[in-house]
Amino acid sequence: MSGLNSTSVTDVKSSIFFYHPAGELPPLTISNLMQRYSVPFKHSIPLDWSIYYQLIDGQLKLVVNGTPLGERAIAPISIDLISMLKYHLRQNYSIKREPFFKALGLSGNERISVVDATCGMAQDSMLILSVGAIVTSYERSNILIPLILDGVERMRNGLSQEVGSERAASILERFQFCPADLFQMSSNSQVGQLERPQVIYLDPMYSSQSGRHKAQSNIRMRLLQQILAPQDDENQLLVWAQRYALKRVVVKRALRADPLGGVTPHHTHCGKSTRYDVYC
Ligand SMILES: C[S@@+](CC[C@H](N)C(=O)[O-])C[C@H]1O[C@@H](n2cnc3c(N)ncnc32)[C@H](O)[C@@H]1O
Repeated sequence: MSGLNSTSVTDVKSSIFFYHPAGELPPLTISNLMQRYSVPFKHSIPLDWSIYYQLIDGQLKLVVNGTPLGERAIAPISIDLISMLKYHLRQNYSIKREPFFKALGLSGNERISVVDATCGMAQDSMLILSVGAIVTSYERSNILIPLILDGVERMRNGLSQEVGSERAASILERFQFCPADLFQMSSNSQVGQLERPQVIYLDPMYSSQSGRHKAQSNIRMRLLQQILAPQDDENQLLVWAQRYALKRVVVKRALRADPLGGVTPHHTHCGKSTRYDVYC
């Protein structure tokens, strides 16, 4: 099947299921997770293109059956927080030189608290965590949340084997994942009861103006863009974040994109293809 029309995406989005072969029982943690997010179980895969969760090699993965974005198949998506962390820990980043860390205001000496309000695949969360910050990540997509929760569970159980127990303990105590819409929580004033972070980081959904080239060059991102909730509240999120962050708000943008909501940042830090707009 080629082409991806919005009707088929809507149908597929609303019929995501958990596939597991008949006769095999998934681990209780996975069954509970699927039940919590009302994901039905199926023993067979439909012939049409479909998206489903499957436990593969001990990881919960989102499998795209068929080629809805053209002829290229999409590799199953899982969120492997341990691999991401190990990769970043090996890099020996220069905190004083990397545009992202400079934008966040990290010095390497103090433990800055960062709310990653748009966790997504948690790549940026793990990067920030790897350099010593205290990270609280929020994600609202019911499609991504089970993948992230599975990743968090595997990180809690397996990180010490990979990086040593002392380092793992320090990393785990600095990370929290909240399966919630931060903006809705803020409107419900639940967030007001939480401790205000020094920094709020926003990497909103790729929009047609700002992220087109990046999204089109990445088939996974195109799929996620189609199946995640449309991002129409990013400007309000910025306004709210500016009030709530103690020190600054950092927004990730494509290098030549307009600033979020047309709001001029206080200053920016540029990487090769990405810009970080800082509001303080
Ligand atoms: C472009 S992705 C972020 C990618 C992420 N920085 C990473 O490294 O993988 C944006 C994500 O933010 C989530 N999101 C957008 N607004 C949100 C909100 N108000 N609360 C929680 N999650 C939100 C979307 O569902 C989407 O998964």
